[in-house]
Amino acid sequence: MAQNIIIDTDPGQDDAVAILLALASPEIEVLGITAVAGNVPLALTELNARKILELAGRADIPVFAGCNAPLTRKLITAEHVHGKTGLDGVDLPAPAMPLQAQHAVDFIIDTLRTEPEGSVTLVPIGPLTNIASAFQRAPDIISRIKQIVLMGGAYFEVGNVTPAAEFNIHVDPEAARIVFGADVDLVVMPLDATHEALTSRDWVETLRALPNRSGPAVASWTDFFERFDKEKYGSQGAPLHDPCTIAWLINPGLFTGRRINVEIETKGEFTAGMTVADWWGVSDRPANALFLRHTDRDALFALLAERIARLP
Ligand code: RIB
Ligand code: CA
Repeated sequence: MAQNIIIDTDPGQDDAVAILLALASPEIEVLGITAVAGNVPLALTELNARKILELAGRADIPVFAGCNAPLTRKLITAEHVHGKTGLDGVDLPAPAMPLQAQHAVDFIIDTLRTEPEGSVTLVPIGPLTNIASAFQRAPDIISRIKQIVLMGGAYFEVGNVTPAAEFNIHVDPEAARIVFGADVDLVVMPLDATHEALTSRDWVETLRALPNRSGPAVASWTDFFERFDKEKYGSQGAPLHDPCTIAWLINPGLFTGRRINVEIETKGEFTAGMTVADWWGVSDRPANALFLRHTDRDALFALLAERIARLP
């Protein structure tokens, strides 16, 4: 039976690949896409979500706009990585499908209250503002969530937006603290795992050669956003962060990690947004997350190519 999920996202080229992977996979049923401000402002993340769905021929999936700023802090965006549109690399047409009138946070609350208890998985792949807002407004939904599988955080890999913090957590540490502090089955896909999910030229060219529109789009998005990581890390490819969450849902065996305690730093002058992962169990703080550490890179990219090939 397919897993019912809500993808909470800030597209972002890697978000786009995650959404395409979900749409191409029979193991997954996407109930809706909720947009949040992150890589680019909300007006662009919700627009990009609709463009991605139309690229995949799935204008039937509803898109909701959520929070346009973190709970308390000023929004930090990442146009230097993702371009001014957030989806630079491919010029997609303006979407014909409408944005839903309902606020994303209300959609999350209503869906969790109406779907059977324990049947909906939340997949946040941007800042956690929408999720935390839903928990604050309707704490009753927390016990109804099947699982949260989020892209965010870092420990051994350290930060990518500050020396201590990964972008999604750093944008809204207060929201992350609420989510990591909730009594919920939490799976964390940090940079430690996603930095092993590096693209390769061969893989990108395989996608570019696919006889559909999705493959070449993924290749062009990768061409654009990998330039930043290759220059920064001197790597041959770029990490495809967000699709790792969907890949985990499809095949958890692609990743290894540990159930540990993970706390969110919100007060540090230099460490705000750091995921303080007790990997060696030196504290007596309870384990609250499965923290993934390693990725079977070749199997992951074989899955990605095989699934993207199924799309229009
Ligand atoms: O740090 C990587 C994360 O930040 C990814 O989700 C990427 O899309 C950006 O949102
Ligand atoms: Ca993202």
